[in-house]
Amino acid sequence: MLKFRKSKHKILVTSALPYANGPIHLGHLVEYIQTDIFVRFLRLIGEDVIYICADDAHGAPIEIKAAELKIKPEQLIADVYKEHLQDFKDFLISFDNYYTTNSEENRQYSDLIFTRLKEKNLIYTKDIEVTYCEYCKRTLPDRYVKGKCPKCNANDQYGDVCENCNAAYKTIDLIEPYCAICKNKPVRKTSTHYFFKLSKFAKKLGNWLNKNKNLQPEIKNFALNWIKNGLEDWNISRDGPYFGFKIPGEEDKYYYVWLDAPIGYIASTENYCRKHELKTEDYWNSKNSKIIHFIGKDIVYFHFLFWPAVLLGSGFNLPDDIVVHGFLTVNGEKMSKSRGTFYTAKEFLQSYNAEYLRFYYASMLGKRLADIDLSFEDLGKKVNNELAANLGNFCYRVLNFLNKNFDGEIRDIDNNKRLIGDIGKLAKDIEKNYHYLNFNEAVKGILHMSSLGNKYFQENEPWKLIGENREKTHRILGLCANIIKDLGILIQPILPDFASKLQHQLNLKGLKWQDINSKLKNHKIGKEDILIRKIEEKQAKEFPLNLKVARIIDARSHPNADKLYVVDIDLGMEKRQLVAGLKGHYTIDELKNKKIIVITNLKHAKLRGIESQGMLLAGDDETDVGVLTVSDSNPGDKAYFEGYENSSKEISFDEFLKINMKIEHGVVYFEGKELRTGKGIVRVEKVKDGAKVR
Ligand code: 2FM
Ligand code: ZN
Repeated sequence: MLKFRKSKHKILVTSALPYANGPIHLGHLVEYIQTDIFVRFLRLIGEDVIYICADDAHGAPIEIKAAELKIKPEQLIADVYKEHLQDFKDFLISFDNYYTTNSEENRQYSDLIFTRLKEKNLIYTKDIEVTYCEYCKRTLPDRYVKGKCPKCNANDQYGDVCENCNAAYKTIDLIEPYCAICKNKPVRKTSTHYFFKLSKFAKKLGNWLNKNKNLQPEIKNFALNWIKNGLEDWNISRDGPYFGFKIPGEEDKYYYVWLDAPIGYIASTENYCRKHELKTEDYWNSKNSKIIHFIGKDIVYFHFLFWPAVLLGSGFNLPDDIVVHGFLTVNGEKMSKSRGTFYTAKEFLQSYNAEYLRFYYASMLGKRLADIDLSFEDLGKKVNNELAANLGNFCYRVLNFLNKNFDGEIRDIDNNKRLIGDIGKLAKDIEKNYHYLNFNEAVKGILHMSSLGNKYFQENEPWKLIGENREKTHRILGLCANIIKDLGILIQPILPDFASKLQHQLNLKGLKWQDINSKLKNHKIGKEDILIRKIEEKQAKEFPLNLKVARIIDARSHPNADKLYVVDIDLGMEKRQLVAGLKGHYTIDELKNKKIIVITNLKHAKLRGIESQGMLLAGDDETDVGVLTVSDSNPGDKAYFEGYENSSKEISFDEFLKINMKIEHGVVYFEGKELRTGKGIVRVEKVKDGAKVR
């Protein structure tokens, strides 16, 4: 018998809060899929669990990006929030609450925690030197100061660490520093900041780490080492302009985003509890609760030192476990835009089903720090050979046979003790592996179970046996159907959609873990259908350009050229600057807010001294120049020719010139296909048929 030990605890599970300034990508999804599988498993075994998350909506990058896009930060984070929610829904991430750190609840908890720490003398102020840009009128965060590395002299390095020699330093150490926003030389300034006495927590943190038996030992040792080497107090304030919560009693100082971000875990819990008549303290201040964070290895310092120290200092529960996963690589390398291996969640869905990624990640994930590699070749193999040929095929052939020969009736079950015993043992192992986050092993167990089923079906040759012994055949099919019922439960945390469709075909619904023990007898199943389709060899041809919709934010005359404008564009989640030969054809006012089509993978070039980060497409008939426009689509949407897949590999201008696009009746054609977006056809303004696209 399996154990369904429902603990008496309330369980709170979180994933790290994604920044509200960019899209969810395949790297993020490792963590959300990992957490979601675990939470779905806990729900299935009957635990009282909630899955809490939020957008991480504060900080300098968000403020700077919004300023560039000429929108309010509130607008930016609202747009991103919507996108994130959709992506999570598409990947079946089952949050109980998805909130934002820019919320009233979070402000209240941040103030409460700040005040408590201050009352306990755990916060003090100190003057420090900061880097300030007099042109931008702002203090510059590390990432916004660039210059030569003080160690190796490499050009254009960030203010915190050199990407060439890996040296870590302070912005003040950079040689010939410049502001990354306006390129001017910054100055040094003194500013008063709030510090949290992290150094006071060395002993308490050490005790907590040593006592906690759940934490991964390698990370625990890392953290213990940091403590041994001495903890420095932590600057928890930032000067304005900043997007965040103002510090009480201050005019232009804000909580550092990393202070209020994890507090967002509590605030999102509060928001959930208010909606469900529950109490936040039952999660954050109770002996009968468990808090489990899932994070990536890049933010270990924050979660193993700062955050627990803040919780200790302000009187909240500490996490019971912090599960740390590795990074995602694609084809063995870091995801990279220039190599064309950076995929957003949305881009993945243009070619594949979300559950394929869930299955792939699950088959690679354990409770360990190792990086995970995504190879699309392996993805295809796993889906075709494991999901489709093994699991999917077993389900289909059994249910199909039952429906054809026995009118879908399951009567009795073949008493094959050995197989039943094997299945029972496998189910127990799979349960244990889910518990300990060894999803890779759980997947192996599930596939093994399904191949035992396949083998049993195959060896009994029911298509022959039915002529000799109909009853026995029926019992064999009964046992097979029971294995399928079990598989439909065991696979549910990983493939919730697949599982619910499979259960539907079995004419069952909402099976829980304990249903693994029950026998399905004297039951009529529903209609069978193929559940997993094999991934076909890529049929779409590659189109060398990456075309996207952009909105023109603003334009100005090029300082060194008569016919050129410098144009700022909004590409949805990013802003770029282009140089375009539209002067004399459009006024600046005519261009503003126009939605155009841009090549985003063209090698960046300097045109008369000004950088052009891509190129906008226009028709040119030697008299007139007219831009390509769309009305319904949004910035960032893909523009494409049917049957062609945009490439994101970088392309040179010469290569671009070889691409033969034609204009007819105000529409752009390539190999007979018209240029379009998901919402409609792209139009060309002004020009005559036969005009060139450039
Ligand atoms: O590293 C990041 O993406 C952060 N936004 C994670 C925050 S997790 C929590 F602490 F808020
Ligand atoms: Zn500046």
